Amino acid sequence: MMTENAVPTVTLNNGIEIPQLGFGVFRVDPDKTNRIVRDALDVGYRHLDTARIYHNEEGVGHAIKESGVAREELFVTTKLWNDDQTDASAAIDKSLARLGMDYVDLYLIHWPAPDNDTYVQAWRSLIEIQQSGRAKAIGVSNFTIDHLERVIAETGVVPAVNQVELHVDFQQAELRAFAAGQGIAIEAWGPLGQGKINQSEELAGIAAAHGKTVPQTILRWHTQIGNIVIPKSNNKDRMAENFDIFDFELTAAEVATIATLDQGEDGRNGGHPLEVH
Ligand SMILES: NC(=O)c1ccc[n+]([C@@H]2O[C@H](COP(=O)([O-])OP(=O)(O)OC[C@H]3O[C@@H](n4cnc5c(N)ncnc54)[C@H](OP(=O)(O)O)[C@@H]3O)[C@@H](O)[C@H]2O)c1
Repeated sequence: MMTENAVPTVTLNNGIEIPQLGFGVFRVDPDKTNRIVRDALDVGYRHLDTARIYHNEEGVGHAIKESGVAREELFVTTKLWNDDQTDASAAIDKSLARLGMDYVDLYLIHWPAPDNDTYVQAWRSLIEIQQSGRAKAIGVSNFTIDHLERVIAETGVVPAVNQVELHVDFQQAELRAFAAGQGIAIEAWGPLGQGKINQSEELAGIAAAHGKTVPQTILRWHTQIGNIVIPKSNNKDRMAENFDIFDFELTAAEVATIATLDQGEDGRNGGHPLEVH
């Protein structure tokens, strides 16, 4: 039964549904991953975002097994690290072994690492991985418009997802518009600014008007402009806070006010897609 707080899904370009709100585990200590992911599942998250390079795929897998939540109720993403781009098939097999699964719901090329010039080769391998059933959907992460255009032109296969840094201070309007035109879903990483939460009066005022916190208001903004969001927290109360965003709606004027907070490139917190190798 649907409740008013149920997490909506976004339908990807191959028909697979992804919960619009998930839980990310970047910088979650491998030794604590089991407890933290168990807490997230307990709060109600059913979409988990990990990566080989986070070194916590095993903890994610253990938490899922111990939780008793059925595999088919979950949406699990992992990512191909840059030095595996020339052997993605072996890399996903190792990720699946660590996760204790025979498929992931979404497999992403983590960074384009364009100096290596192997991301098109990697994308061809992901297409085969999807055909083999080891990933239900495939996509990319940290791709610019140029990288997206190239993989589409050279393979004819449009990524289902581009997971990129995106938050109030760094809104990526041009990339979002391009992705919308191609049917590529945008997943926002660092959706809360990686903890540097925007402290503007505007956001504080909008949050107060709805009786919500600023992080809740930011996450709600993401979902209303169409982003999939994967906030991370080690703290169960904050996990629950971040999960409780579907019982209110921002007005068009509030969404327009938040658009004015964009700092463009100055708002970027993380690595630049051309510079992470
Ligand atoms: N594809 C990529 O290259 C890439 C890069 C980075 C991240 N990601 C993915 O995106 C996920 C989310 O990004 P992120 O973890 O970097 O950043 P984030 O979710 O924007 O922010 C996480 C930080 O915000 C704090 N926080 C969370 N909820 C809060 C709340 N309600 N109030 C106050 N503080 C709060 C957390 O602290 P506490 O833990 O103490 O609550 C943590 O320090 C990652 O976990 C990962 O899965 C992908």
